[in-house]
Amino acid sequence: MIDRIEAIEQQASSAVEAAQTSDALEQVRVQYLGRKADLPNILRGVAELPPEQRGAVGKRANQARKQLEAAIERRGAALEAAELERRLASDAIDVTLPGDPPQPVGRLHVLTQTRREIEDVFLGLGFSVLEGPEVESVRYNFDALNHSPTHPARGRSDTFYVADDVVLRTHTSPMQIRAMEAQPPPLYVIIPGRVYRRDSDATHTPQFHQVEGLAVDRGITLADLKGTLLDFSRAIFGADREVRLRPHFFPFTEPSVEVDVSCFNCARDGSPCQVCKGSGWLEILGAGMVDPNVLGHVREHGYDPEEVQGFAFGMGIERIAALKYGIPDIRTLYQNDVRVLEQFG
Ligand code: PHE
Repeated sequence: MIDRIEAIEQQASSAVEAAQTSDALEQVRVQYLGRKADLPNILRGVAELPPEQRGAVGKRANQARKQLEAAIERRGAALEAAELERRLASDAIDVTLPGDPPQPVGRLHVLTQTRREIEDVFLGLGFSVLEGPEVESVRYNFDALNHSPTHPARGRSDTFYVADDVVLRTHTSPMQIRAMEAQPPPLYVIIPGRVYRRDSDATHTPQFHQVEGLAVDRGITLADLKGTLLDFSRAIFGADREVRLRPHFFPFTEPSVEVDVSCFNCARDGSPCQVCKGSGWLEILGAGMVDPNVLGHVREHGYDPEEVQGFAFGMGIERIAALKYGIPDIRTLYQNDVRVLEQFG
């Protein structure tokens, strides 16, 4: 009987090694360990053997079964690993190949492109980029920026209130205060971000984007502001642009200016154009020298108005993009019609 078990064992183990697939291995398992196979039959018959044989035969048969099970498991794992290897090799996809048919690659939204372009210009001038909260306290959005208690922008008809003293920021200027609180001068920062106003027509959307700029240092003058914005304008609108400053009012700058860039549209074909209405100038942003009252709010952070001066500016990204690309209605920038968006940049 022991001889028979050993013969089965040998046969089985060569069959296991010969199996080349998981399916073939499963057949071997059924053949040698299945319900009708010899070895299990022998095990089941042990009880009927003469008592003096039971111990030795039972022990040997059990050992053979265990070894066979282990061999099948080992062979199974090896086959599976080999099959996985083979599949990985044959199924390899080169994701760098163009699709079939090739898919259009898409592009950044024109507002994202424009924001990045603006950031690049100011990074090149030594400014760093900050971001700040869109839900803002009345204190930062208006009070610390020197708005009079009756300033119209404080009204519920102009501004979205979240609570009596909390608004959706109406401009990125509150970040002037936060930036100065966070670090002492010299300070050269720009702050891109979303802002909100109760406004809606072809040139205004209730949510839009601004880029704030703030430079505070010793001896900063309006000439530094003009030079900075000239550089900016030439980078964005073309190398032969000029800028001009017109007197204006903002509560937090003194003096305040509106800044125009020379029209690049007229210049192209030499005749007065639709964009500037023949004036030759396009308004691009508001700016000014930081009001000493604003510095006074952050005096304890190192901003003594007797010691440092600053300039600030704020531009609408939609406006810059609309001018640059001749977009007649900025609401189309938010309608996500690719036929519109793929025309820009
Ligand atoms: N915050 C102003 C606005 O939204 C723009 C501005 C910024 C003006 C900084 C002056 C200085 O209209």
